[in-house]
Amino acid sequence: MGRDEQGTADTTRALQALAIAGAVAALAGTSPAAHAEPAIAGDDQPQSRILGGTGATTDDTPWVVALTDRYGNQYCGGTLIRAGEVITAAHCAHDPLTGAERSPKDIRVIAGRTDLRSSQGDEAQVDDVWVHPGYEDFTTGDDLAVLKLSAPLPQRPLPVVAPGDTTSYEPGTKARVYGWGRTSEDGPASDTLRSVEVPVAADDTCRSAYPTYDSRSMFCAGYPEGGRDACAGDSGGPIVADGRLIGVVSYGTGCGRPGTPGVYTRLASYVP
Ligand code: ARG
Repeated sequence: MGRDEQGTADTTRALQALAIAGAVAALAGTSPAAHAEPAIAGDDQPQSRILGGTGATTDDTPWVVALTDRYGNQYCGGTLIRAGEVITAAHCAHDPLTGAERSPKDIRVIAGRTDLRSSQGDEAQVDDVWVHPGYEDFTTGDDLAVLKLSAPLPQRPLPVVAPGDTTSYEPGTKARVYGWGRTSEDGPASDTLRSVEVPVAADDTCRSAYPTYDSRSMFCAGYPEGGRDACAGDSGGPIVADGRLIGVVSYGTGCGRPGTPGVYTRLASYVP
């Protein structure tokens, strides 16, 4: 899902800035005095942020990139895996309204920009989009695409999990997911990069939450009680374990709901 459905970038961002304090207050039931804390400052209290994450910076994780449309609206994330290559979700390479593939010139890659309101870092154009040929929609798997950039980016790329690796996907493996997506299910997206740690869940848990769950092409991650999760706008972005990219944010029912982990593309099934 994209923020391009929510109006122009400037208006959206301005409204988001106003709405975030109110949304956090309403959800957390806290007193107004508590909202002086800036949205970027993170803590690990699930009750204070529905997504449950903390602030992150592209200085520490230079390989996390934002994808924007031709109007500059961020709608997905991605990961730099080589100087000229970004991994993202196949559904991020499609227009959510028409279902048609996005033209490469309608996708921009933003690197090294923690705060999307700034002009820090680098922007890259896309020359070519490879979408996994098996992709139909995210519920059936193969939710994977690779963007070939027209010029290499200077940011450090992230190594990808080894082909056929299984240890990274063992239940309980601590993985960290990154993005500029929503900080609550119905709330605004984040102007600044955030991240949250979630444990990989057992296939049975994923299957009982999602009838079309496929353990070959997907894995899922989250706490049984919910509270920490990726959300809309984080799609295509990285989930990392042990310094390697193990998955791509794909889908979920709501965000951070109990018994409803987030679903990710299982990269070890797709590399090289
Ligand atoms: N499909 C969403 C997007 O386009 C990502 C949803 C991830 N949801 C979750 N609960 N983990 O941004």
